[in-house]
Amino acid sequence: MAHVLPNLPYGYDALEPYISRQIMELHHKKHHQTYVNALNAAEASYAAASTPKERIALQAALKFNGGGHINHSLFWKNMAPPASEGKGNGGVLKDGPLKIAIESTFGSLDSMTSKFNTITAGIQGSGWGWLGYNPATKTLEIVTTANQDPLLSHVPIIGVDIWEHAFYLQYLNVKADYLKAIWSVINFEEAEKRYLEAGGSAKL
Ligand SMILES: [Fe+2]
Repeated sequence: MAHVLPNLPYGYDALEPYISRQIMELHHKKHHQTYVNALNAAEASYAAASTPKERIALQAALKFNGGGHINHSLFWKNMAPPASEGKGNGGVLKDGPLKIAIESTFGSLDSMTSKFNTITAGIQGSGWGWLGYNPATKTLEIVTTANQDPLLSHVPIIGVDIWEHAFYLQYLNVKADYLKAIWSVINFEEAEKRYLEAGGSAKL
């Protein structure tokens, strides 16, 4: 079955002033759609391939475009209209299991976001920054992936797109300002849902 572009759970201008309408429209309608189209094409070619060599030749396209589709589908859901503008719940970490886990692991939300931004700003080229749940240690960790590689070592709790297409039209080359702004539109309710589904505990 062909993959389809998921609808955004909010309007294109809903994340303003932190993420502009122009970025959101291009990012969703053009960039994400391109990953979806290319993934469908690669899967169709894979299904039609008759030799191992032909299938091996498609691995890179499957990983890149499949990862792009997975990562962006997560990304849209892990943002929400900003509470600071009276538009929604973006940026608000309420009392609960995720807040307890973040404070236990990092000391505070500010410490976590500061560490996240420092590690993520260090990505060379394009990639993703993640707050991930390590199922082996049952702890939250900050990790990065290159290109469109999906996060496989951890369960993704929050993912941030560090490709220039995610911020350049508004923040130009100042990645640090984008990383600072993004926390005002992070949907921590969605993050907590993922944390609990991943097996994160309410008690530590
Ligand atoms: Fe992107």
